[in-house]
Amino acid sequence: MNFDTSWSYAPAPENKTAATINSQYDLFIGGQWQKPLSKKYFDTLNPATEEKLSEVAEANEADVDKAIKAARNGYEKWWKRMPARERGKYIFRIARIIQEQARELAIIESLDGGKPIRESRDFDVPAAANHFFYYAGWADKLEYAFPNRQASPLGVAGQIIPWNFPLLMAAWKIAPALATGNTVVLKPAETTPLTALKLAGIIQEADLPPGVVNIITGAGATGAAIVKHPGVNKIAFTGSTEVGKIIQRSVAGTNKKLTLELGGKAANIIFDDAPIDQAVEGVINGIYFNQGHVCCAGSRLYIQESIADEVIRKLKDRMETLIVGDPLDKNTDIGAINSKQQLETINEYLKIGRKEGAEMYESSCRLPRKGFWCRPTLFTNVAQSSRIAQEEIFGPVLSVLTFRTDDEVIEKANNSPYGLSAGVWTDKGSKIFNITKRMRAGVIWANTFNKFDPSSPFGGYKESGFGREGGLHGLRGYVEIKV
Ligand code: NAI
Ligand code: MG
Repeated sequence: MNFDTSWSYAPAPENKTAATINSQYDLFIGGQWQKPLSKKYFDTLNPATEEKLSEVAEANEADVDKAIKAARNGYEKWWKRMPARERGKYIFRIARIIQEQARELAIIESLDGGKPIRESRDFDVPAAANHFFYYAGWADKLEYAFPNRQASPLGVAGQIIPWNFPLLMAAWKIAPALATGNTVVLKPAETTPLTALKLAGIIQEADLPPGVVNIITGAGATGAAIVKHPGVNKIAFTGSTEVGKIIQRSVAGTNKKLTLELGGKAANIIFDDAPIDQAVEGVINGIYFNQGHVCCAGSRLYIQESIADEVIRKLKDRMETLIVGDPLDKNTDIGAINSKQQLETINEYLKIGRKEGAEMYESSCRLPRKGFWCRPTLFTNVAQSSRIAQEEIFGPVLSVLTFRTDDEVIEKANNSPYGLSAGVWTDKGSKIFNITKRMRAGVIWANTFNKFDPSSPFGGYKESGFGREGGLHGLRGYVEIKV
């Protein structure tokens, strides 16, 4: 293919001033903004410019204790006693206010985390609202979700989320917890706290009873203090497999319920009968969506040998047309890498890949001078045992491998410590069923990739964690079944 590159899109930036960011944020505890007992604050940056956006409180153990006590109080005094129908109304209200403030939330999400405005506007924020709408509907229908059983809330849920989909992960955590009658202490990631803090404002506006949702900021130590606290009944964590293991050890021998949504290294498989142009689009979306900061990213591509040259050529052509740059520009396909630390991790993997003998190809796009950036990249000549085929890179880096037979590709796809998601591209429906039922992955897409819906459960096998979020299954992690 030959793309005409003699012209380019004129800039179409979203208006930054349509969003309000305070210069400092306190902790949201018991329905109020409270100064941290730690007296400490830390900066959150715009990764596209390295400029400071705001500073947020750093909750220490005493702050965590205060938040968990507030959540207990909110549970005993209000939430547990409230008719389920009334709880549902509050959750509907949160969903509607998110919709009303959608533009501002999208701008803040892109400023704080570096993702393209097109994604925060068209995916993250609407999906977050949908999640609240969906679970609001379940609040007074739990007897249908668990027929002939009595499902009771657990009490206080401690929830720790990552930086790749900050508002959406907050919604995934908070909505099912509230619908089932639990109260919440949520901690966003340290590089992307701002939309969770906006959500705290929305919860205040929705007039939830005090202590039902508490949002506190801090880094790993704050998360660890939530996990350790004897007053929590449930921990829900999304993040790295490494921290997931620490958390699992920490709750061992306690009565705390746990769900973990961890890393992934999804196999995306293209068979020789697949519609190739459509598959190429799907592969591009699968790996470069959100700069590849996606736990279910299609980061291991398996191409059937007879079509490998053609697919690789078309992928390279398509990579050239991806627009990398200002996250607030509506034309941008790939924004900034979330943090300096993550960029260093990605660059380390680029080195490892080359050292292992793989061939690296990157788009020739120009990168902005300031900020954290990585060109869309792919590796060919990758061995199954290579670290870039086995480990989660969490960046815009695709490892390409080939195969000849169905048995071979199943063996290779399942040869991974992870099992979160996968993709299959083929013209034949029967093949989709034959292949997908032999794959060990929680979510498998056929002739598409990265499709999400609040009614559809999401979660992994093996080192990708356990428990499901979304759908009817997502309620199960927040209730105790009696009888
Ligand atoms: P991380 O797992 O350290 O961070 C996720 C969340 O856990 C953050 O809110 C963090 O403050 C909190 N946390 C950190 N240490 C904790 C502890 N000991 N106890 C409780 N909470 C703790 O992830 P990080 O370091 O930001 O990224 C490292 C790698 O993890 C990435 O390169 C990527 O491969 C993977 N990752 C995977 C995610 C996924 O959704 N699968 C999300 C984020 C990172
Ligand atoms: Mg930030």
